[in-house]
Parts: sequence; structure tokens; C-alpha cells
Amino acid sequence: MEIVGVIGSGTMGSGIAQVVATAGHQAIVYDNNLSVLEKAKSNLKALLDKLVEKGKIKPEYSENILRKIVFSSQLSDFNPCGLIIEAIVENLDVKQKLFSELEKIVSGNCILASNTSSLSISSIASVCMKPERVIGIHFFNPAPLMPLVEIVPGISSDKNLPSEIKLLTGGWGKIPVIARDTPGFIVNRVARPFYGEAIRIYEEAFADFSTIDWAMKEFGGFKMGPFELMDLIGNDVNYATTETVWKQFFNDPRYKPSLTQKLLFEAKHFGKKSGRGYYNYALNAVMPEPKKDKELGETICWRILVMLINEAADALYYGVASKEDIDLAMMKGVNYPKGLLQWADEKGVEHCLQTMERLYSQYCEDRYRPSVLLKKMVKEGKKKFYE
Ligand SMILES: NC(=O)c1ccc[n+]([C@@H]2O[C@H](COP(=O)([O-])OP(=O)(O)OC[C@H]3O[C@@H](n4cnc5c(N)ncnc54)[C@H](O)[C@@H]3O)[C@@H](O)[C@H]2O)c1
Repeated sequence: MEIVGVIGSGTMGSGIAQVVATAGHQAIVYDNNLSVLEKAKSNLKALLDKLVEKGKIKPEYSENILRKIVFSSQLSDFNPCGLIIEAIVENLDVKQKLFSELEKIVSGNCILASNTSSLSISSIASVCMKPERVIGIHFFNPAPLMPLVEIVPGISSDKNLPSEIKLLTGGWGKIPVIARDTPGFIVNRVARPFYGEAIRIYEEAFADFSTIDWAMKEFGGFKMGPFELMDLIGNDVNYATTETVWKQFFNDPRYKPSLTQKLLFEAKHFGKKSGRGYYNYALNAVMPEPKKDKELGETICWRILVMLINEAADALYYGVASKEDIDLAMMKGVNYPKGLLQWADEKGVEHCLQTMERLYSQYCEDRYRPSVLLKKMVKEGKKKFYE
């Protein structure tokens, strides 16, 4: 596969083009907004110049990348591509329309991939004449730096396609995992409680943002606390992902967004990018001090962690991915210090179940229902995910 097409030259498309060109492919990048396309071109040049200036890459390397990426304003240029990765606006109708158009341009064996975060690959493929050639290749932001890619076959994808794409993206230096076409795939599903349970703890006035952030870093070894991370991702983006996953699960209470998230979104407290989120990022604003109480910190950390483990166990139970891929995805896609199922083994599967059962009986809410897999393992005396 010599030529790879990238459609959409925004945040993700630009990064993906860089990955593809660095791996030695010829990349063609298209955007239906000419000014965005021009900007992507000049941004890439500026970025590479800066890296050369800092001595991080050689001038020949930069020239090579620039030679390998061609910016085009015509879809018909995509005719010789062996693979096209779409990274346009997250809208099903728009993506379907593009995929239909592409099929009229490309050869019969060109693979059509989508970088969608939240739409079903099967529904994107449903408009295609050859849905078997459609697959999800979900990169993480920033694509050149984040190693994980989730490979998502749709219901009609050719059965050899996932392993073909795994081999290809592995050759690009990425860490590919295979996920079933289900809401949020692996990472955006399993990570929900990191944010949701942290907000819930705050809403119960159990602890403030900075104490919860401190607890997760101090006792969980996470690089960032949930509120810091939400402020970095953007509370608009995070709220939209939460809402989409919840809706796609037919309003399962386990994924229900919180009023706090909605409030911040409506107040335009998007986080770092807007200067205000859970924290205030104004120049002379004082950051709140956490209450560094060991017992409180450990309780907070365990409650969020056990909810994450419960979600990972459920994803495994419902065949979203293998246990190895679930653990790898959380470590390489969102920098968790350890795989969640590995963590469950260390904490004790029975201890995880007992905590979930205690939360479930305390709150009487479906949000806290223990995963069937944890129950099954304890009932059958299976002590570990990894024996
Ligand atoms: N931003 C992230 O963190 C992230 C991470 C993983 C996946 N994604 C997914 O990647 C995709 C792109 O996200 P993004 O953040 O790069 O968005 P973006 O807004 O930065 O870029 C999207 C680009 O697509 C272009 N576009 C829109 N409609 C088009 C069309 N019909 N034909 C050609 N170009 C069109 C726009 O002009 C824009 O430049 C989405 O599906 C998103 O869910 C985003």
C-alpha cells in the first residue's frame, strides 16, 4: 500500500498524515475547506521547521516528510490510494455521504477507514456498495505522539481486514488493539467512571476537585487527576462524549452524564482553552489546595478505581476486546499507570466485587451494578483475570 489518503485536515487529519508520511507512505490530504487545508500545510511546515531548529529532527527528515504529504482540493486525486483514512466532522450523514462519494472514485480494493470516536462503523459502512472494505482506525490526539490505535471492524467488514490493519499500523510504530463496534469502543467506554465517579464524589460534597485530583495521583499513580484532565480535554468535548456513549447505550444509568458537567458546558467553562473550567486558569488565580488526608484520599481513589475495574470487566464480559487489549488500550490511550484487569488481580477480584456490591446496596442505583463477570468469577472461585 503505497499511497494513503487522509480526508479532513483538522487536528486529527493533520496528525494522521504526519504518521503516514513518517512511515514512508505517500500521503494525500484533502479538506473541503480550502483555508483549513492551506493552514494545515503552513502549520506542518512551521512545526517541522521548529523541530529542525531545536535539533530534534534533521533538515533532510523534514524535507522528506514535506515531499511525502501532498495537499489536494479534489477528491478525484484519491483514485490511486490503497487506504483512505477519514477524519472529518463527527456527523453520521456527512461521513456517509463522503464514503458513498469515495466509492465512486477509488479502486475496488481500496480500504476505507474512519477515525470516528463515537459513531458506529457499521452504520457508516451501511451506505457503501462494498461495506466489507470499511473499518475504524481510531487514533488518539495528538496522533503523532499517542501510540494507541483502536481497530474497529464493522458488522460487515472483511474478516481478514482487522489483522491486515493491525500489521500495517504496527509497522507504523503504533500499538494497535482490536475493539468491537460498540459505543465508545474500548477507551471512551472504560474511562467513563474516571470522570463520572469523580464528579459524583464532588457532587456528594465528599471532597473538592483538588483533593480528588490529588488522591488519584497520590494513591493511584495517575499522571493527572480527573478534573485536571477534563479541563485539558475540554469540558465541551468530554460532555459530548459522555452524552453520546450514554445515549448509544439506550440511556443506561451507568453512563449517565452529570448535572455538573452540563452546567460547566452551558457556562462555557470549557477548561484550559477557555481560561476557566473546574479550575480557574487566570494568570493570578490561586489554585485550591487539596486536603491531604491519607484515609480520605485512599477511599476516593479506590471508589473511582473499582468503578473503572468494573467497567473493564464488563467490557471483557461483553466481548468488546480481549483482556490484554483492554489493559493495553487504557495504558497507551489514556496513560493509565497499570492495566485495569491487572489491577483487579492485585486488589483481589472478590474485594472488587464486595466494594461494588456495597456501593450498589448503599445507593440502590443501577450505575453501581456489579459486572456479571466479577460475580461469575467469584462464584466459580476464579481469583484472577491473568492466571
Ligand atoms: N480531536 C480529537 O481528540 C479526536 C480524537 C480521536 C478521533 N477524533 C475524530 O476525528 C474526526 C476529526 O476530528 P478533529 O478533532 O480532527 O476535527 P477538526 O474539526 O479539527 O477537523 C475536521 C476537518 O474536517 C473538515 N471537513 C468537514 N466536513 C468535510 C467533508 N465533507 N469533506 C472534507 N472535509 C471535511 C473540516 O473542514 C475540518 O478541517 C472526528 O470524527 C472525531 O470524532 C477526534
